Amino acid sequence: MKILVLGSGAGGGYPQWNCNCAMCSGVRSGRLHARARTQSSIAVSQDGEHWVLFNASPDIGHQLRSSPTLHPRRAPRDTPIKAVVLMDAQIDHVTGLLSLREGPPIELYCTPAVFEELTTGLPLLPVLQHYCGVHWHLLPVAGERASAEFRIDALPGLSLHALAIAGKAPPYSPHRNDPQAGDNIALLIEERATGRCAFYAPGLAGVGDAERSWMQRADCVLVDGTFWTDDEMIEHGLGRHTAADMGHLPQSGEGGMIAALDGLPARRKLLIHINNSNPILDDHGEQRAMLQRHGIEVAHDGMEIEL
Ligand code: MLT
Ligand code: MN
Ligand code: ZN
Repeated sequence: MKILVLGSGAGGGYPQWNCNCAMCSGVRSGRLHARARTQSSIAVSQDGEHWVLFNASPDIGHQLRSSPTLHPRRAPRDTPIKAVVLMDAQIDHVTGLLSLREGPPIELYCTPAVFEELTTGLPLLPVLQHYCGVHWHLLPVAGERASAEFRIDALPGLSLHALAIAGKAPPYSPHRNDPQAGDNIALLIEERATGRCAFYAPGLAGVGDAERSWMQRADCVLVDGTFWTDDEMIEHGLGRHTAADMGHLPQSGEGGMIAALDGLPARRKLLIHINNSNPILDDHGEQRAMLQRHGIEVAHDGMEIEL
């Protein structure tokens, strides 16, 4: 199984256009050793020919232009992207769907909660009906149903397991503060021939028993790397919300993501969806050194993972 990191940043990307924090100004001036990052999305393939996107970032145009593997090659109009799976309905994960409108109907996989957001508060799907159209595949993760296994027709070598996880509906949602199963999912992506698994959760508010047991099965985990500390945005004068308010588990501290990743058997442990305020963006910083001591990598745009 091949995983291609198209974007590794959180909402706004890195550096963010209007942000003058130490991390953003540091990379602009060259004072920091850090890579720019677009908003998070990965592509996965079993055969290297047929690919599925997990989330469609507003930076998708740039991401696809910079990824030769995903270029058209067999017909005047063509794409190796056969399906899109959405992990939630956040702006940084869904608005790239609009940029796929020149292609064939989008084979879209998401939960009923995400479908509802994208037909009401942020009605991308009715809009797309006037362009390429969307073929709906609802993942039955809702109400009491916390997980579902599914396949994608064009990628028969993969088996996918969607798991309802702790998180938040997007800020524009009428139930932002009233969580529903299916607002956010994690995925275990399994290659059927080898049994190799990747666990993907770019937004994860906490690691409970269910999340932990799925993460235990994975050879590679790619999880929420948004914030280093809970009050990072407040401390740096960038916002009013804590990581918890926004549905993200910070890396540091007791009960943080580093502690959750310690002890997992995965061969590769990676953070993705890194916010522009996060000091782990500094390749030479002390926080990055601490991650290294725990065997944790920071995903970057263009990174290829072979499982
Ligand atoms: C989040 O995950 O909380 C987002 O990155 C927020 C956003 O897209 O603005
Ligand atoms: Mn986000
Ligand atoms: Zn910044």
